Amino acid sequence: MDPNEQIDNLRREIERHNYLYHVLDRPEISDAEYDRLFRRLLELEAAHPEYADPNSPTQKVGASPVAAFERHTHIVPMLSLGNAFTREELYEFDARVKRQLDLPLDAAIEYTAEPKMDGLAISLTYRDGVLEVGATRGDGAVGENITQNVRTIRAIPLRLRQPEQHPPLVPPSGRGGGPEEGTQQLADSASLSTPSKRRMQLHSTPELIEVRGEVYMRHSEFERVNRDRAERGEPTFANPRNAAAGSVRQLDPKITATRRLAFFTYGWGAAEGFAPDTHANALAMLSELGFPVNSLNRVFPNIFEVADHKDYWEAHRGELDYDIDGIVVKVNSLAYQRDLGFVSRAPRWAIAFKFAAETARTKLRNIMVSVGATGQMTPYAVLEPVVVSGARVGLATLHNEDEVRRKDVRIGDTVIVRRAGEVIPEVIGPVPDLRDGTEIEFVMPSNCPECDQLAVRREGEAATYCVNPHCPAKVGMRIIRYASRGGLDIEGFGEKRVFQLMEAGLLLDAADLYYLTREQLIMQERVGEKLADLLLAAVEEAKHPPLARFLFGLGIRHVGESVADLLAHGFGDLDRLMAAQVDEIAAIPGIGPEIAQSVYEFFQEEATHDLITKMRAAGVEPEGVEAEPVLEAKPEFEGKTFVLTGTLESMSRDQAEAMIKSYGGKTASSVSKKTSFVIVGADPGSKYRKAQELGVTIIDEQQFLGMLGE
Ligand code: IVH
Repeated sequence: MDPNEQIDNLRREIERHNYLYHVLDRPEISDAEYDRLFRRLLELEAAHPEYADPNSPTQKVGASPVAAFERHTHIVPMLSLGNAFTREELYEFDARVKRQLDLPLDAAIEYTAEPKMDGLAISLTYRDGVLEVGATRGDGAVGENITQNVRTIRAIPLRLRQPEQHPPLVPPSGRGGGPEEGTQQLADSASLSTPSKRRMQLHSTPELIEVRGEVYMRHSEFERVNRDRAERGEPTFANPRNAAAGSVRQLDPKITATRRLAFFTYGWGAAEGFAPDTHANALAMLSELGFPVNSLNRVFPNIFEVADHKDYWEAHRGELDYDIDGIVVKVNSLAYQRDLGFVSRAPRWAIAFKFAAETARTKLRNIMVSVGATGQMTPYAVLEPVVVSGARVGLATLHNEDEVRRKDVRIGDTVIVRRAGEVIPEVIGPVPDLRDGTEIEFVMPSNCPECDQLAVRREGEAATYCVNPHCPAKVGMRIIRYASRGGLDIEGFGEKRVFQLMEAGLLLDAADLYYLTREQLIMQERVGEKLADLLLAAVEEAKHPPLARFLFGLGIRHVGESVADLLAHGFGDLDRLMAAQVDEIAAIPGIGPEIAQSVYEFFQEEATHDLITKMRAAGVEPEGVEAEPVLEAKPEFEGKTFVLTGTLESMSRDQAEAMIKSYGGKTASSVSKKTSFVIVGADPGSKYRKAQELGVTIIDEQQFLGMLGE
């Protein structure tokens, strides 16, 4: 087969698997098999640059950073929705609809009910089947062009599926919950909505369509991203919606690509060659074109059942892996929708039936401190268990010492706990009126609660650390982290087993995993011969991990999954990283001085060298990657040192630093005579004055953007 044909076939096959996975939730191959296909395509494309295609499924890694987003005018404006909070308000909406349509009040109108995703609305313009623009809602008429970011989202197709080439596949039935036995899913409900008509089918690709929907972040991903940010010492996102919005509005698409964002479509704007007759039918067609449609969407014959449906999800929302803040109710018939039209900026045919924002009061029994793999000591609240947003909450993180003080929560307080829009339960604050004087203020223990050694809080940092390298909690958590999914993914070495083997004296560090023997393992309680063999096989398989996973697994302070990735790509192999100086580490785009220092110190420690030597003696060798050269240097940046002060409008500090470094410049945290430029944003600090005193060149944001060539 000629390579062009081979490449084409592979692209189609991978697109089909994307569709099976993201739209139908019915993958046919394992992740490993998918990765193999993907790698094969990458290799072929690398060998044949003449067949490059920006719409290849490999092109989801993210393009170069931009300085600011361009504006995008929607062809058909994006509307917002009116709200209903009570059953009465919902019934009023139904009555209004009927009045407008000249229908009797006792007529029944068919409605669709869709979970109201708590994310960010976007519009995707496809011309002749190819993604042309992705844009935020903005003010409804004009949004921001975020095409480069949207292109990295796996659930969003770069090309529409060809309806005539594939038999229509219908989303799976019976997945997810819902109390309504016998009701139909929206996507294949046309028989219910239009019994007399045949279901409309797509026969060709629409020439033009603006697909509308919500980008959101699953709870599991939100937790991963925040864990990662906390480790880098960066502020965490308050909730998945902020995380999704922040990721979609990133100036650096490579960062967006690292956030695994999800997407559901719920509508469309302008369309040519797309003629559904009901909303349900339209979503079925969009699903055929390759867009994920929420499988919890339903069609109901009247408004009363819609109200029951909302009650159900209000009680069960905690079971979902994403946040919803209500149910969106829409008149199913598009002919009715046309007759109803719009008022100001909202359609008369749809309404958001919102859940009550959920908080609960409970007693704060105690504040305890846990110790993580990096030694970080995290205070957490032990609560009288309480149900919030459908989930039972007994523990809530308090982040760090300052946070406890800022919120002024005391042991014995009645506190307000929130989960809506919050994955990890959060203590909002105390109810001071309910205090009786017996409440006790929390003090961060001066010693580690696990090993009793003196703990350390470094200047300028919020976190307190146990620095005893032999602290059993820390050692245990490190081994667990090493074996965890983000690390070497060694199956069978969860918390229980690791502590069991530590108590038996078989594990003193992660390297000991490679020295476990069959005889030792079968001596342990609840470990038979079969399990022992499985455990040993899993360990054996973990001798040549990708460098990034290995680095994550080591549990270096400030090194989460994404920093590990940057380090691996920046240095290529372990020995180069181990020998690197602080400024070489800091020269990697995306890595700040604090992270660089922490990585440098980690690799200076004798204990680290001993650990790695011990692992290598057992045959462990992380697999290097090809180091990425720093972007083409610009003369304005090369060899120059930049200091930032104040807030920039168009990008975060991290982004600005990453750009400076990627063009060959350096960044520093304080101004000296050696500083080449001080970039001054809004509300600058003392560095501004210092720069004036020393006569260092001062530039503002616009000038900086100019240097970047934007
Ligand atoms: S329909 C004209 N459907 O809610 C229709 N919106 O308050 C306008 N949203 O900006 C939107 N899930 O971000 C619709 N199933 C859904 C939705 C949904 C979430 C969001 C969307 C919109 C906001 C309106």
